[in-house]
Amino acid sequence: MKSVTVVAHPNIALAKYWGKRGGDGNVPAVPSLSVTLSGMSTTTTVTFDDGLAGDELVLNGAIVGDRPLARVTALLDVVRREANIGAHARVVSRNDFPTASGLASSASGFAALALAAVRAAHLDWSRPRVSDLARRSSASAARSLFGGFVELDGGEGAPGLALPVAGPDAIDLRVLVCVATEDAKLISSTEGMRVTQETSPYYAAWLTEGPLLCARIRDGVLAGDFRAVGECAERSALAMHACAMAAGVVYVSGTTLAALAEVRAMRALGIDAYATIDAGPHLKCLVTSQSMHDAKTRLARVPGVVRILETSPGPGARVLEEGTDR
Ligand code: DP6
Repeated sequence: MKSVTVVAHPNIALAKYWGKRGGDGNVPAVPSLSVTLSGMSTTTTVTFDDGLAGDELVLNGAIVGDRPLARVTALLDVVRREANIGAHARVVSRNDFPTASGLASSASGFAALALAAVRAAHLDWSRPRVSDLARRSSASAARSLFGGFVELDGGEGAPGLALPVAGPDAIDLRVLVCVATEDAKLISSTEGMRVTQETSPYYAAWLTEGPLLCARIRDGVLAGDFRAVGECAERSALAMHACAMAAGVVYVSGTTLAALAEVRAMRALGIDAYATIDAGPHLKCLVTSQSMHDAKTRLARVPGVVRILETSPGPGARVLEEGTDR
């Protein structure tokens, strides 16, 4: 068995995935379109080892059990079955940004884990197949196997496949991540989606609106139209959060709303800036390279913004190191 180390970047959905189709495979109820971001990364090493009594997970230097380990084992079980191996694995993973707090650590985490596990088990799988494996653990992770702008399909009849739409340079885009807290979020995306699906009076409207916005964002990306993409991305985020909030699922904080007000104030001044928000309080501001400096200065003054990460469209998950067979 060999040891394989992979680096993967989180992705930020411009068109949000929120809600599952039902049935097996963790297929989304709506299509989504994201951008993979360099500037934040997860590095994961997987080693299958006959000497281990069970799978081990070390996350950011600490041994982790319970649900995070169970999710890792579920992915490893698929790989073991396909590769016909019995050995348990040691998984050592590190994020250079806050974990489980709405900054897409599960996207980069499961993308890195899927690729590292497949390669460590000597499986010669295509990218889409590795992406399909990652989606089963966390749907947004399917997108981080690819770089640039990536669409993940969803809804009735969709295979649940992520595919690249355009390379990292398709639009002049930078993403300023306004970190509002270093803490983990209170409601996981999976749980937030479940409650939304079961109880939001606006869920049916979201199922109509989400795909329309996704198609407009795809067109905007292909046309290199920053403003069209920014406008629809902000709408997608607000529609998702409105739908979730109506079910009592609230991820935004006062800091998120203050940052949103600042983004809108900037637009009124002619600065190219749009907002998107995921399952956590951190606002992500979409800017052009030209508007980045002004936007960053202004967002840094928003009360509650702890720090700002500068990110830009980047590559998909890739192998950093493959150790020798033992
Ligand atoms: C708001 O991919 O974390 O970031 O499939 O249940 O693991 P599971 O959910 P996850 O949800 C991501 C939700 C989102 C929007 C998005 O990334 O599209």
